[in-house]
Amino acid sequence: MKNKLLIKNASEVVTCSGFEAKKGQNMNELNIIEDGAVVVEDGIIKLVGKTQEVLRNIDEKEYEVIDAKGKAILPGFIDSHTHFVFGGYRADEYYLRLKGATYMEIMQKGGGIINSVRGTRQASKEELVELGLKRLNSMLSFGVTTVEGKSGYGLDFDTEVKQLEVYEELNKIHPVDIVKTYLGAHSVPTEYKGRGMDYIEYIIKEVLPYIKEKNLAEFVDVFCEKNVFSIEESRRLLLAAKQMGFKLKMHADEIVSLGGAELAAEVGATSADHLLQASDEGIKSMAEKGVIATLLPATAFSLREHYARARHMIDSGASVALASDFNPGSCFTENLAFVVALSTLYMNMTLEEAITAITINAAAAIGREKEIGSLDQGKQADIVILEHPSYKFIPYHIGISSVEKVIKRGKLVFD
Ligand code: NIG
Ligand code: FE
Repeated sequence: MKNKLLIKNASEVVTCSGFEAKKGQNMNELNIIEDGAVVVEDGIIKLVGKTQEVLRNIDEKEYEVIDAKGKAILPGFIDSHTHFVFGGYRADEYYLRLKGATYMEIMQKGGGIINSVRGTRQASKEELVELGLKRLNSMLSFGVTTVEGKSGYGLDFDTEVKQLEVYEELNKIHPVDIVKTYLGAHSVPTEYKGRGMDYIEYIIKEVLPYIKEKNLAEFVDVFCEKNVFSIEESRRLLLAAKQMGFKLKMHADEIVSLGGAELAAEVGATSADHLLQASDEGIKSMAEKGVIATLLPATAFSLREHYARARHMIDSGASVALASDFNPGSCFTENLAFVVALSTLYMNMTLEEAITAITINAAAAIGREKEIGSLDQGKQADIVILEHPSYKFIPYHIGISSVEKVIKRGKLVFD
């Protein structure tokens, strides 16, 4: 018996239609169908159209039916940049930042990422799985159906592998899909203090081959930043990883303009993320090479940084994605609606661009644009049903999720 689902009478079907990232002004195209319906069979979208037309083409009696009258439906949201498996919290550091300390000052005094490294090394796999489940449930309630998750709170071999195995386990037991990224180059571990390049060589020799062999990560990422990993160290790591068959991501040009955006274009990264200080030249090269610019405004908000130049990037023809950057230090939120709100209030993105940035462009940022990110025939049936008749409610209900139901691969997983 086929698993058949019909969602009908939706006031808006916001299809975000497409099988590749949208660039520049095309990010405004949401391809909305009013009074629309979606037909799903065996987890795949079979038909999308006006309710009346769709009903003429199927026998409704064969389907499980959701009447979405008065509600908007959208593709499941994709959070393409997070660090959601970690042990311990850093509320004390947040408190210090409220009193004026900066993120980098805290890091230089032995706090920051290294603080979470201690907590994550201490945590058992079971504890991390339990925490991960809780966080995934929260993301799902905000409409997230696929999430990218990074390691980077172990730095040593065993803990990095433990983090990636936790993501793998969570992927099996939770409906939200997880795309795994190895971020061993998140910080220079205490054992390698002052010897960043030695640590990179260690990663290339000892860690990457194992991760590849066990298929523990699809992407390799690096925190390319002043006093963290230099352009030369980042280039060495990324080119070696590329040669081994990994796809590439970068934390680039967040605090200091180092030329991270240029490097992302040079090495052919799938995305470069943060980019608050990215140069005009770097942005231009990214647009030309089709590197997705993933912007993380909730981090800028949380660190009281100025926001990335989204308007300039889009006007330069770049493809922009938005993500939460959920992590224990610089941005402790899984709320993508808040990210959308910030992007439209403070980065001059149109709401349509922001919706594109958490759907089809976010799918491209994790190399999944052919499978997810839009409501198109043949794509995986990952669907969000809002409590309200329009996508315009997403940023308007400030800090609150407008998501009423979530369908993952054709199954109702949040109600
Ligand atoms: O994307 N910038 C580096 N990495 C994270 C922060 C991680 C942390 O502070 O724990 C980020 O903001
Ligand atoms: Fe990050």
